[in-house]
Amino acid sequence: MKKYVWLAWLLITAGIAGFYGFKMFIDPDKQSLLVGEPTWGHHQIEMACTACHSEAFGGKDTLQNACINCHGAELEAAQDSHPRKKFTDPRNADRLDVLDARYCITCHIEHQQEHTRIMGVTLPDDYCYHCHQDISEERPSHQDLEFNSCASAGCHNYHDNRALYEDFLAANAMGEWLKNIREIPLPQAAAVGTASLDIQRFPRFSDKQQLHSQQHGEWLASSHAQAGVSCGACHSNDDGDWLDKPKLAQCETCHDKEAEGFLAGKHGMRLAQGLEAITPAEAKLPMKPLSRDTQHSCVACHSAHDFDTQRAAVAACLNCHDDTHSLAFEQSPHGKLAARAAAGELPPEQAVTCATCHMPRRPISAKVDAVLGVEHNQNMHLRPNEKMIRPICMQCHSLGFAIDALADKKLIDKNFAGRPAKHVPSIDWAVKREQTP
Ligand code: HEC
Ligand code: HEC
Ligand code: HEC
Ligand code: HEC
Ligand code: HEC
Ligand code: HEC
Ligand code: HEC
Ligand code: HEC
Ligand code: HEC
Ligand code: HEC
Repeated sequence: MKKYVWLAWLLITAGIAGFYGFKMFIDPDKQSLLVGEPTWGHHQIEMACTACHSEAFGGKDTLQNACINCHGAELEAAQDSHPRKKFTDPRNADRLDVLDARYCITCHIEHQQEHTRIMGVTLPDDYCYHCHQDISEERPSHQDLEFNSCASAGCHNYHDNRALYEDFLAANAMGEWLKNIREIPLPQAAAVGTASLDIQRFPRFSDKQQLHSQQHGEWLASSHAQAGVSCGACHSNDDGDWLDKPKLAQCETCHDKEAEGFLAGKHGMRLAQGLEAITPAEAKLPMKPLSRDTQHSCVACHSAHDFDTQRAAVAACLNCHDDTHSLAFEQSPHGKLAARAAAGELPPEQAVTCATCHMPRRPISAKVDAVLGVEHNQNMHLRPNEKMIRPICMQCHSLGFAIDALADKKLIDKNFAGRPAKHVPSIDWAVKREQTP
């Protein structure tokens, strides 16, 4: 009898595994799969099962490699404050019994929307307790704090604490709320110099220039024409023949950094997995009905052929985005600065656009005089929002003001029209501790 039960179990298991294996790796119709709702971060690539499950029975390590493959560089750039190596250290082995922090999926399980919190976290919010129970002995300021308040806005993050460590808080405690100067000047368009490649090797298609006078006119006024980028640089296929609708692959030949950023964020994550480009129709965020079917790509923001970066920085976003935060922008103090700069009343570096916060300019190499390129991954600084403090807000505001503003959810909804109603005491504590002998 026992033998048959065992055999039945084996057959059922093989059947289930076979079913999932077929669905995941062979069958293009994955909708019928019995897995739970995907997380906010991954819902756009839900159907690319093999992006995470690259082997049928790979287990923990296969998933771990997949996570690192897509997020490793980002966590490294964030100077992850709890990296894996902290936990492979034998001195910390006891902590792993409660929470195996070597594996991403200890804290970020997929397909379990019902216990998933913001940023894909599937642990209860007081989990710091497991490893830092003794914190109040060491720090009197932390005596009466609840463990679910450690990682609330403005204090700590599990991974990214680039703006939230004690020395930095104390050193930047002072300062007017508004410094009002951006120290990094914006480069002149035609001299950006982020593009690569020998542009002389492309066909010029003079006949097309005559035929399509509108495109030719817009192109003539663009920095592409100034830099000698001919029609053929975008419009030729591998054989040198005319290509009607250039795609990301053509832009990528010269703008690889921008393409890399775009593909790593939400806007490009579907294309990166070989799925159809993202459209507002599939969004969870509110989107403008008119743009429902616009396929997201470089020209969704940089319409061919003027490639106007000013339009790309606000107007293009508002073609699609329709949430309260986005809609509040134009009436906010920042939005008014952007309008004045667009009208030529202010130098462009004093404007704050959607792109200032979501697609900031940053050096494209480690050199001191490195060219400033635009970060095209609009999720890079999004969550936790303290990622914006150092590279963005502090160009113009003090640290304390930025921490308070970003901790105030209602103020974010109004797109920063007004003063923060919250005060985060972390700077006060850091200063006090520094002054106590
Ligand atoms: C973004 C990464 C990701 C994608 C995409 C993804 N999964 Fe998963 N999947 C995971 C993680 C993480 C787990 C949890 C593993 C654990 O709990 O040990 C998991 C668990 C599972 C499980 C086990 C269920 C369970 O509760 O233990 C199945 C079956 C599964 N996935 C199938 C799929 C299928 C089918 C697809 C495509 C429709 C898919 N997954 C897409 C990351 C992903
Ligand atoms: C194919 C690439 C890919 C793989 C594999 C992948 N992710 Fe992601 N993940 C993304 C992208 C793209 C986003 C959305 C953009 C962003 O938030 O950076 C995202 C979002 C997230 C977020 C949410 C961030 C937020 O702000 O809401 C978390 C957490 C996360 N991933 C963790 C994981 C973990 C853990 C794994 C392994 C189980 C994993 N990812 C596997 C590409 C990937
Ligand atoms: C002990 C729990 C824990 C482990 C292990 C863990 N995370 Fe996280 N992760 C969190 C928490 C909590 C957040 C929410 C934001 C924060 O506090 O930093 C987060 C946020 C994130 C985010 C979005 C925000 C950001 O800082 O970029 C990504 C992406 C992410 N984790 C990826 C990973 C990957 C990849 C791994 C494995 C290498 C991993 N996490 C391991 C707890 C964990
Ligand atoms: C799985 C165990 C574990 C968890 C969970 C954990 N930590 Fe840690 N944490 C460590 C270890 C190990 C260190 C390094 C040694 C030490 O300082 O105790 C550390 C160090 C720190 C530091 C010192 C700063 C630094 O960069 O070295 C801070 C701050 C911190 N953790 C905050 C938190 C917060 C806040 C949470 C919850 C969001 C958290 N930790 C969750 C294990 C953990
Ligand atoms: C920097 C790249 C680039 C350059 C240079 C460029 N184009 Fe284009 N062109 C595009 C893209 C991208 C599209 C497709 C737009 C879309 O998909 O909506 C396009 C579309 C077109 C179309 C089709 C329009 C339509 O609506 O179907 C014509 C015609 C055209 N371009 C002519 C030209 C001519 C003539 C030149 C040279 C004077 C030129 N282009 C230079 C990128 C370029
Ligand atoms: C043959 C190389 C080449 C190709 C292909 C190409 N570009 Fe460019 N692009 C350049 C050069 C050169 C510049 C001038 C600025 C610089 O040196 O970075 C430039 C500038 C730009 C600018 C800045 C415009 C400004 O006024 O500041 C944008 C935006 C842009 N390109 C987008 C695109 C898009 C989108 C595509 C694909 C449809 C594309 N480019 C294809 C070489 C190229
Ligand atoms: C063609 C339409 C379109 C344009 C143009 C566009 N977006 Fe998006 N954006 C989307 C879609 C669709 C998503 C994914 C939303 C979802 O999955 O719910 C998205 C996601 C985002 C996210 C990530 C939200 C999250 O929670 O992870 C940010 C931030 C964002 N867009 C900012 C911008 C900015 C800033 C601009 C202009 C510089 C812009 N977008 C232009 C369609 C667009
Ligand atoms: C969500 C909107 C959006 C998308 C999609 C987008 N860009 Fe941009 N891009 C911008 C904005 C906004 C700026 C200018 C920001 C500023 O001036 O501060 C810019 C600037 C640029 C520049 C000039 C600055 C630099 O980094 O060299 C180039 C080149 C460029 N984009 C190329 C591309 C290419 C190639 C793609 C497709 C892979 C693309 N962009 C997709 C919004 C977008
Ligand atoms: C001063 C900086 C700033 C400006 C300007 C700004 N944003 Fe944001 N944006 C934020 C912050 C901070 C968040 C919240 C991140 C978080 O905590 O989840 C956010 C969130 C978002 C989200 C994600 C909403 C969600 O619920 O996931 C989108 C989409 C977005 N912004 C689009 C835009 C657009 C479009 C514009 C211009 C019309 C714009 N933003 C202007 C700082 C800014
Ligand atoms: C390029 C400079 C610049 C950057 C970057 C910038 N701001 Fe501002 N911000 C300003 C200026 C200038 C004003 C005042 C505008 C006015 O009063 O007309 C302002 C106003 C504000 C206000 C409204 C204050 C009030 O009294 O109404 C808030 C809140 C704010 N900023 C928060 C932020 C946050 C948070 C960030 C980063 C995500 C940020 N800002 C990035 C320049 C900047």
